Amino acid sequence: MTELGCAISGWGAALPPTVVTNTNLEKLFDTSDQWIVERSGIRMRRAATGPFVEATPLAHPPGGLGTTSALAVEAGRRALDSAGATADEVALLVLCTTTPDQAIPATSAAVAHALGTGGGAMDLNAACAGFTYGLVTAASMVSAGIGKVLLIGAETMTSVTNWEDRTNAFLFGDGAGAVVLQPVSGPGSLLGWDLGVDGSLVELLYADHGSGMVMKGKEVFRQAVRATVDSATTALRQAKVSADDITLFVPHQANQRIMHAVASRLGIPVERIASVIEWTGNTSAASIPLALIDAADAGRLAAGDLVLLAGFGAGMTWASAVWRWGA
Ligand code: ACO
Repeated sequence: MTELGCAISGWGAALPPTVVTNTNLEKLFDTSDQWIVERSGIRMRRAATGPFVEATPLAHPPGGLGTTSALAVEAGRRALDSAGATADEVALLVLCTTTPDQAIPATSAAVAHALGTGGGAMDLNAACAGFTYGLVTAASMVSAGIGKVLLIGAETMTSVTNWEDRTNAFLFGDGAGAVVLQPVSGPGSLLGWDLGVDGSLVELLYADHGSGMVMKGKEVFRQAVRATVDSATTALRQAKVSADDITLFVPHQANQRIMHAVASRLGIPVERIASVIEWTGNTSAASIPLALIDAADAGRLAAGDLVLLAGFGAGMTWASAVWRWGA
């Protein structure tokens, strides 16, 4: 039997129209553009909900404007177009999100309906590590012979932001990024990976049903650097490549200081980091696809280049993948 691999054949992004600058946030709590830029590298973020969006809650019905599913549909449609694929060719839709439209059902059902995809659909919640968890899961299913997979990372983090908490509210934004994964003959693109979770750290970052996020920022920072470096190192080892072989490093866009600290410990120069955090903030499961898509659109990737994706998030979860571009 011929070996079946997986490749990315198209991609697309979506951001809500409302831009929230650091200066805008000065109206909500005692902060400054300079403090936020120095501590996080973030200058602005996009918001689908919250105090800067002109809409009542009634304008945000499940599946409607300002929801995770609306962003996912827009990004998913663009990815299908860019892959030259039709929705009915999709055998599985995987929606990575930690901000679903409703508790029941899975938001992927609404996205599959709006796009008209064939096959199955499921949500995957591994917080900010979600997209890389999804990539490893989806690539494995493509290699098992399922067919094409539409993989989307989409979030409305503003819907779980506590706007009175100045220590956290400036970090988060909304958006979606999607890729189409398709079977190819040969070994394909996923060369190495690592998935992990430590549920004993759940207290570091959580949101109860119906209430805003609670985060112990300093401890998250410390654990994030450690977990991401360990996870990326494991994936590189499994792929039998070194950090020098990596053309593009796509870390979870949580905080520029975390991204730089991780890259430095891995021995990856800053110029090789894919970064959109300055204008998106932390978009959780959407952050890695948004940064990957931005780099691909900017022409920073050529066929054969090695990409290292590494995320961490609430849980605490972590996930890394070494991916050969254009396989
Ligand atoms: N504006 C101005 N001052 C502020 C603000 C603000 N928005 N927020 C806090 N401060 C003050 C604090 O009160 C404190 O003052 P004090 O020294 O008088 O007590 C001072 O600034 C320093 O605050 P720290 O919390 O020590 O700041 P720190 O350098 O740790 O930076 C930050 C905070 C940016 C949140 C950092 O800890 C961080 O990035 N942590 C990781 C967060 C993260 O990545 N989260 C995403 C996880 S992924 C997921 O799953 C969603």
